[in-house]
Amino acid sequence: MERLDPAKIPRHIAIIMDGNGRWAQKKRLSRIEGHKAGLDAARGVVEACDELGVKILTLYAFSKENWRRPRKEVSELMGLLHAKLKKEREELLKRNIRVNIIGDLDDLPGPIRSTLKKLVEVSRAKNGLLVNLALSYGGRSEIVAGVKKIVADVAAGQITATDITPEIFSRYLFTRDIPDPDLLIRTSGELRISNFLLWQIAYTELYFTATLWPDFGKEELIQACLSFQNRERRFGRTVAQMQEGDAAQ
Ligand code: IPE
Ligand code: IPE
Ligand code: MG
Repeated sequence: MERLDPAKIPRHIAIIMDGNGRWAQKKRLSRIEGHKAGLDAARGVVEACDELGVKILTLYAFSKENWRRPRKEVSELMGLLHAKLKKEREELLKRNIRVNIIGDLDDLPGPIRSTLKKLVEVSRAKNGLLVNLALSYGGRSEIVAGVKKIVADVAAGQITATDITPEIFSRYLFTRDIPDPDLLIRTSGELRISNFLLWQIAYTELYFTATLWPDFGKEELIQACLSFQNRERRFGRTVAQMQEGDAAQ
């Protein structure tokens, strides 16, 4: 098997963890069993990223649009997620993992919201892997909320409209302190973004796999990283420029 180049591990990996329902259906289990297996897969991938030396892992766990699902599925999924967070808390802290949330936290049920807030708080000083959980997250809402905040700052005279650049605007998003993803993975064979990190993935490398999320593990994560390492990120420049090593200029 091809080996990973430890010097070129993607710094930030983002994952659209999709396919829990179809995994369960194939096994004649309930959708909630699929979500349970999906949370176990997430735990495995957190560990694998930690071991590979990835710095940031953003996991799309629940979208703004997922509130449209049947009430029972949503409440059971929230219950599972809450229990998993409590169960893994000590292990996360032991691994020096910092947890951050992106999304509209206020949409979440109170008990899970307070568990999440505490986890973010107690892990704030950790300097290992950053696990960035996207919960009730939608890319368009994030951008609109950012626009509202920047308009308010312009009205308050904190910034002028002519000062606004993409770099400045980035600071108005949930991801203000986080570099853009280098690699985005989507499981389950769907070839779409589903409102995930619309602004941040402008130059992210994309990796799509038919594997259903509960079956995704370290081996396939390594495959995705290998695919990433075999690509040339040109950021608008030509191949010749890249070969001359002008990339930094
Ligand atoms: C992803 O799996 C988990 C969430 C979106 C919460 P799905 O539940 O979307 O699984 P499929 O797409 O129905 O197979
Ligand atoms: C995207 O998956 C959201 C998450 C994985 C959390 P969905 O299953 O909700 O996406 P669509 O509806 O198929 O686009
Ligand atoms: Mg899905």
